[in-house]
Amino acid sequence: MAVTVPDGRPAGVSVRQAVRADLFEVYRIEKDSFPQPWPFSAFERFLEEPGFLVAIADDAGDAGDGGIQRTVLGYVVADCVRTHGQPFGHVKDIAVHPRRRGEGVGATLLSRALDALRRQGAATVKLEVRPSNEAARALYEDFGFDRLRVVPSYYDDGEDAHVYVRPLGGEA
Ligand SMILES: CC(C)(COP(=O)(O)OP(=O)(O)OC[C@H]1O[C@@H](n2cnc3c(N)ncnc32)[C@H](O)[C@@H]1OP(=O)(O)O)[C@@H](O)C(=O)NCCC(=O)NCCS
Repeated sequence: MAVTVPDGRPAGVSVRQAVRADLFEVYRIEKDSFPQPWPFSAFERFLEEPGFLVAIADDAGDAGDGGIQRTVLGYVVADCVRTHGQPFGHVKDIAVHPRRRGEGVGATLLSRALDALRRQGAATVKLEVRPSNEAARALYEDFGFDRLRVVPSYYDDGEDAHVYVRPLGGEA
């Protein structure tokens, strides 16, 4: 089990909003994590988004670039869109470096992304997941997500997507 500090983070890990200097490491993790990775430009488009967060190793040291540390352990991209006038949260992407999985980083990122969506007024959040992705499904179910529906052949390789939703009223 991962050691945690009082605010629930794994020890030695901080979470902050992504900046441009993070993007190459984010993109490398993306390519190592998904058969059909997002293009680099997709991450650039979310740079100002409050729900684009990175988990950073506290011992990474100062990169000498405005004091921003840059060893990225994982990231999450979540945004808030208006549907029928109501703000609706969407977790669009999440991944942790393959060597740093199982330490609580993914759960920390998801929790912080839900906080960001809540601050933007979202009352509900959704995401899509492959039914074959047992680790991700277990993570989402731990966080109280329920399967709403199946979208047939959602992914480029023909796999269905499970659409998960949860209300955002209480704590993550
Ligand atoms: C899904 C992912 C982000 C989880 O990140 P992580 O840092 O390894 O997850 P955590 O250590 O925070 O684990 C949180 C929970 O997730 C679930 N989980 C994580 N890894 C798991 C595994 N290998 N098998 C089953 N459940 C797993 C568990 O419920 C776990 O809670 P527990 O530790 O109390 O059992 C990570 O596996 C990953 O990057 N996968 C590749 C990218 C991906 O599939 N993203 C999701 C797209 S929908």
